[in-house]
Amino acid sequence: MYSKEEQKKAAAWRAAMEVKDNMVLGLGTGSTVYYLIEKLSERIRGGLNIHAVSTSLETEALARRSDIPLISLEDARTIHLSIDGVDAIDPDFYSIKGGGGALFREKVIACKARRVIWIMDQSKLVPSLGGRVLPVEVPPFAVPYAEEQVKEAGFIPKLRIKHGNVFVTDNGCHILDLTGDAAMDYPMAAVRLKAMTGILETGLFDDICEKIIVGTENGIEERFHH
Ligand code: 5RP
Repeated sequence: MYSKEEQKKAAAWRAAMEVKDNMVLGLGTGSTVYYLIEKLSERIRGGLNIHAVSTSLETEALARRSDIPLISLEDARTIHLSIDGVDAIDPDFYSIKGGGGALFREKVIACKARRVIWIMDQSKLVPSLGGRVLPVEVPPFAVPYAEEQVKEAGFIPKLRIKHGNVFVTDNGCHILDLTGDAAMDYPMAAVRLKAMTGILETGLFDDICEKIIVGTENGIEERFHH
């Protein structure tokens, strides 16, 4: 039986083998991606030649310490592959991200990437996204208005606090963690949220990944989008 940490590491290390010479890689954010960076660093020391575009300042700092060559989004003509974690994913590969607060940059990079792979431990597989926490990114000025709007849409908003302070994203915004009804259709609700003035982006990701790599209690599972 593999522990949760072992599951994350196994999925991340398997995903690291998808990275090939001369790729530009979208590098996600979070504790699962931490293991990806660890393995990529080892492969780079062994001669792998890649460049990475980071989805957060946290990942950027870690990548620098791990000697992973970074380029800006501006300099990345193509992102061949993006690898990132998720907070929850349903059987149709719709997912929620943003637990680490990097959802906006993660979405930009996933949308630009030719291929997307999500990596995770098995706790992230859920039958339905309804009822879960869905983060949205909001510029500070718009927070009170966004709170009113999301309540009208049926969500309970909670301003994210970290270490006693209001959480600030890499884009200078705040996060509202929204909880909706278990029966709510989150992909539909996210379209409505995205259309609200004041909401920069939602943590609802459509089925844009081609494959998920899941570390389970019994080993690694790969599931493909169909
Ligand atoms: C950050 C994210 C992460 O990918 C997500 O929270 C998963 O993180 P972890 O691998 O630590 O469980 O969306 O904004």
